[in-house]
Amino acid sequence: MTVIPTVNALRFVGAATFEALSGEPVTSSVWDGVDSVRHIHIGAKADIVVIAPATADFIARASHGIASDLLTNTLLSTSATVVLAPAMHSQMWEHPATQHNVALLRDRGHLVLNPDEGRLTGEDSGIGRLPSPQSILDFVENALVGTTHSLAGRHIVITAGGTRENWDPVRFLGNRSSGKQGVALARAALAQGAAVTLIAGSVDIELPSGVTLVRVESAENMLQAVRLAMKEEPDALIMAAAVADFRPIAPLEEKIKKGAGVPAIELTLNEDILASVARENPETVILGFAAETVDSQEQLIAAGREKLATKGCTALVLNNVHGGGIFGSENTEITIIDRRGGQASFTGSKNFAAHAVLAHLSYLLSPLH
Ligand SMILES: Cc1cc2nc3c(=O)[nH]c(=O)nc-3n(C[C@H](O)[C@H](O)[C@H](O)COP(=O)(O)O)c2cc1C
Repeated sequence: MTVIPTVNALRFVGAATFEALSGEPVTSSVWDGVDSVRHIHIGAKADIVVIAPATADFIARASHGIASDLLTNTLLSTSATVVLAPAMHSQMWEHPATQHNVALLRDRGHLVLNPDEGRLTGEDSGIGRLPSPQSILDFVENALVGTTHSLAGRHIVITAGGTRENWDPVRFLGNRSSGKQGVALARAALAQGAAVTLIAGSVDIELPSGVTLVRVESAENMLQAVRLAMKEEPDALIMAAAVADFRPIAPLEEKIKKGAGVPAIELTLNEDILASVARENPETVILGFAAETVDSQEQLIAAGREKLATKGCTALVLNNVHGGGIFGSENTEITIIDRRGGQASFTGSKNFAAHAVLAHLSYLLSPLH
């Protein structure tokens, strides 16, 4: 790791701290170590360049190709992925000059995170806070994997989470989906440079910034949101949401009272979103997720192949939920099967599973030879 502070960064944290932690001398100047032409050397060997925090001043200099110190020179000399985590007061972030500069950097393919909302320097709060170190790290990890399977210039629509089907004004029928896999897919697709529309039902986790977010509750809402998103002709749709198959036939206007005996719920079938949308958009690459309760991998694949044919989508990501182990957990086991006859299995974190799915998606987006 090489640390390149700006002159002003060294007013906040001293060079000694960066040198002790990175184990290398640090400088802000192109005029130190001239014999090794540091600004070219560092840029050439970098796998990834992360600027955190990225000030308004730095964003302005970087977006205009100004090379006034070692960091901006390095930025011009590198072909590595560049991630910027902006931090500044809300007024500075929202200023048209900063927004224009951020747009320039994004157009150039740099990955600019949106700042968080929260406490800023001083008494005030609002948008502009540096994203947490962990979320920057997760993003960098995603971007490092993402550099090999770039989705730059692609628009991906992703559904995540569970649906809630109204029973009465306070009760609903739901499911155990946490939204983790769909959200991991959205973060990974963002890190691979895609524009992401995230259609999220009920989720237990923080939603990523930087996506076009659509919140929905019921399966019917989700179907409408997916149909609307498909009008924008995205490159792909990934349906990772756990959509209810059934809903109460007629949700009650009044809360069911306890004294009135045990009520029965009459259910009706929800429209199958994956099958309907796949039928309506035969040219779009559509990946569905299917949870099966089977005893073996062979049974999983047999059930998956049958489902792939019925649903009419391009590929299915299969989970064996025998024993209920996948919902809400950090790790997952997936098998991807597609209409080209392809098949791939993967075990690991939902984050890495997301990259496995996106790698398969890149393959499906590539023309057949
Ligand atoms: C206490 C203090 C906090 C600051 N915080 C920020 C900040 O969060 N974001 C920002 O864009 N500028 C901030 N500034 C202003 C920058 O330090 C100033 O624009 C500087 O020229 C940035 O230089 P650099 O981008 O080369 O590091 C702050 C200044 C001070 C004195």
